Amino acid sequence: MKHLLPEIPVTEIEDLRDILRFHEYRYYVLDSPILADFEYDQFYKALEKLEANNPGLITADSPTQRVASTLTASFPTVAHLVPMLSLENSYNADDLLDWDRRVREGSKEKSVEYSVEPKFDGASISLIYEDDLLVRAATRGDGVQGDDITINIRQIRSVPLSAKFSAYGIQQIEIRGEVLLTKKNFKRFNDKLAEQNLPPLANPRNAASGSLRIKDPAEVRRRNLEAFLYHISYHIDNGEPNSTLLTHSGSLKMLWDLGFRSPEHEKRVFNGIQDVIEYCREFEAGRDDLPYEIDGMVVKVNEVSLQEKLGMTTHHPRWAIAFKFKARQATSRLRAVEFQVGRTGAITPVAKIDPVHIGGVTVGSISLFNEEVIKEKGLRLGDMVLVERAGDVIPYIVKSLPELRNGDEQPIKFPQRCPQCQSQLFKEEGEAVWRCINIDCPAQVVERIIHFVSKDAMDIRNFGEANVRKFYEMGFLTDIPSIYSLPLDRLRGMEGFGEKSITNLTSAIENSKQQPLYRLIFALGIRYVGETTAKTLAQSIDHLMDLSKLSTEELQNMEDVGVKVAASIYQFFRNPSNLQMLGELEKLGLNLQSGKKQSFTGGALAGQTFLFTGTLNRLKRSDAEAMVEEQGGKLLSGVSSKLNYLVVGDDAGSKLEKAKKISQIHIISEEEFLKLIGKD
Ligand code: IVH
Repeated sequence: MKHLLPEIPVTEIEDLRDILRFHEYRYYVLDSPILADFEYDQFYKALEKLEANNPGLITADSPTQRVASTLTASFPTVAHLVPMLSLENSYNADDLLDWDRRVREGSKEKSVEYSVEPKFDGASISLIYEDDLLVRAATRGDGVQGDDITINIRQIRSVPLSAKFSAYGIQQIEIRGEVLLTKKNFKRFNDKLAEQNLPPLANPRNAASGSLRIKDPAEVRRRNLEAFLYHISYHIDNGEPNSTLLTHSGSLKMLWDLGFRSPEHEKRVFNGIQDVIEYCREFEAGRDDLPYEIDGMVVKVNEVSLQEKLGMTTHHPRWAIAFKFKARQATSRLRAVEFQVGRTGAITPVAKIDPVHIGGVTVGSISLFNEEVIKEKGLRLGDMVLVERAGDVIPYIVKSLPELRNGDEQPIKFPQRCPQCQSQLFKEEGEAVWRCINIDCPAQVVERIIHFVSKDAMDIRNFGEANVRKFYEMGFLTDIPSIYSLPLDRLRGMEGFGEKSITNLTSAIENSKQQPLYRLIFALGIRYVGETTAKTLAQSIDHLMDLSKLSTEELQNMEDVGVKVAASIYQFFRNPSNLQMLGELEKLGLNLQSGKKQSFTGGALAGQTFLFTGTLNRLKRSDAEAMVEEQGGKLLSGVSSKLNYLVVGDDAGSKLEKAKKISQIHIISEEEFLKLIGKD
């Protein structure tokens, strides 16, 4: 900003505002930031400084005068009782020392007590409880008003629908917090996307804020969101004001005691800033061990009366500050793009960059998922790129840095033919993925075998990717059944194949024949059939070949099986070479039986079929199902005319609607079910 005219920097101020608005839009509205927080803050601070020096140029619509907007048209807009502010950021000890000095000056205290807790990397929410009941939940929106997402928040199991605030003399209360996905759930979510060849979401924060805006509450529920509640912004008391709320740490404790997930156990209270700094560093060192992502710590003045004395700016409270951890980002040069062929023929571009260290690992290869991603990011060979790796999440390219180009950069050409078998590539309408549809493409065959032997599939230990490739090249492996006729004698003497490893490999191959059916179904690599779907399928049949007899409608009646999945399974069983392969596997001695527990035929529920839908309150779903089987009943996986009882829990969806149309199905509540089995 050196070139600014000190007198009237009108254009610079407007340019900065436009830059900030654009990035706020990317971050808050599109959930797709292309700028690191640190860089955003630099722009923000530059604007703040210019405006401070030129107060006459401040306009009501400047990004410094309001917090960024996330309003969407899909949910009713509601006003927050108190504006939802953001936080000031700090990046090092000096920033915190400086803030502590400002706090002490502002509060006229010699030493101030601070409460320190994690800064959760999710989407902010605001909850209102009245007379102990959750009456409203909203997103942050533009800070003044947000989207009413009560229906979605009710799906988050850690948010109590009622809480005894009255015991603290509170009639109405507004609470702030953060919705997030644990790293494990985030991975599960991305695995599901990968099964459908969709690019994964970049980080749990994007997944959380996207989830809050889904219009289907059942889908929100499936995402297993978490909510941490960390701030009380407003309360109306109906009795004696409660002393618990005089400190921030007291508020966290009250929330915890009332059944909320508040950072009660993660927080620490310190006198003076030095210990705060140390605690922040300690926490940063252990961030990878946490089950969820945090991007820093939040330091808050503990006494509420001091908070009130310090007040706030239009952007953030003066009594709190975020201590941001080092970003897990680095820049590197994009040297090449390789095109890999997956087991379903999907062509995945993989960026090869100069290896860089990010958060303790070296990154040299990064998936670019599909052609659209390359286009969207405007990547060119030779570009400098910004790479991020958040926690356990796979690294990804945030953006290229075109300002560093020297003109030698080259466009990335997506191949038109399969890099392995040279067949023409195809792209289905509405899909972003190019595919090689030659079922005998060597790359696909190898990838299918690698998947078949992998840990979550048939778990043939000692096999591994490298051996599959080697055996394929040597002609020992040609397809999946050939695993079971591997010429083990010819391996003898090969490097790395001593007597012991051959014995181990032989028994691993042999043992895999007895793997449960769901593993075999998953191992077949049917498109869109992940582990969960494989389990559902296995539970619904007696023998693998039963699947070949089901229509797409019957398949769709199963839990979790949608139109796409059903069509894919149906197609798999229409392909004669697949049927031949299954026949060969059975001859080779593989287990194609489901081994389902045989129902005890003489029980009270003998001959009756059951299906559960929605959330049960008194029983766990798996326990209820076990009770049915214990009493001789049979479980079905979908609503059909074969169903006798549909047991309906809370928030039941399409299954209930469907069952209502079939007159012979008895639709019963959980209580009625308990009565039926004599357990009420
Ligand atoms: S306190 C007036 N505490 O970080 C109270 N915020 O970057 C302001 N955040 O908008 C919020 N963890 O969404 C607070 N422990 C925590 C937090 C936290 C995450 C979010 C919050 C805020 C954003 C600012």
